[in-house]
Amino acid sequence: MQIKAVVYQSATGHTKRYAEMFAAKTGLPLYTLQEAKKALSKGDEIIYFGWILSGKIQGFEPAWTDYEVKAVASVGLYPDSARFRNHIGRNNIIIDMEYFHLRGGIKTGELKGGAKILMKIMMKTIEKKLEKGQQVTPEELEMHDAYKNSADFVSEEQLAGIYAWYDSYCADAQ
Ligand SMILES: Cc1cc2nc3c(=O)[nH]c(=O)nc-3n(C[C@H](O)[C@H](O)[C@H](O)COP(=O)(O)O)c2cc1C
Repeated sequence: MQIKAVVYQSATGHTKRYAEMFAAKTGLPLYTLQEAKKALSKGDEIIYFGWILSGKIQGFEPAWTDYEVKAVASVGLYPDSARFRNHIGRNNIIIDMEYFHLRGGIKTGELKGGAKILMKIMMKTIEKKLEKGQQVTPEELEMHDAYKNSADFVSEEQLAGIYAWYDSYCADAQ
């Protein structure tokens, strides 16, 4: 079997940019999860890029239900670390595939719907803690700062690991 496409889900564009860069470099077709329904068949091999909301990689579950996900890349605000991987491992079932994490960013003005509401609730909670002098986690502080000022950590260099994996995967498949 051969990887057929890059499939992604993005709310404010950071994940889309990574998926576009990856597809441009590898020559693989690129689809949103929605577009993939028409373009791909069940069981096709894919690489999936999804943004993270409260630890959950968005669209990942429907992606692995319908396709053979060979690698998944999460895109979130926080940097990769053992603590971060623990947070992802508790919220997503990542079995028999490669996992990569890429830093995205926050486009405060572009949040919509449930994500916007959830973010507002998160900000209120953090601000209350700060007002009362209560302890906040480094992640809460990072999110608070990114929300206030917007943040963009997208860079092609972060794709180095997934490019290397893809090259060796293609070589092995031949
Ligand atoms: C409500 C909400 C919850 C989030 N939760 C997390 C999280 O748990 N971990 C993380 O790393 N990033 C989290 N983020 C940050 C997003 O994953 C980040 O903004 C990502 O780059 C968005 O990608 P997109 O622009 O493709 O939609 C959260 C963002 C929002 C709005």
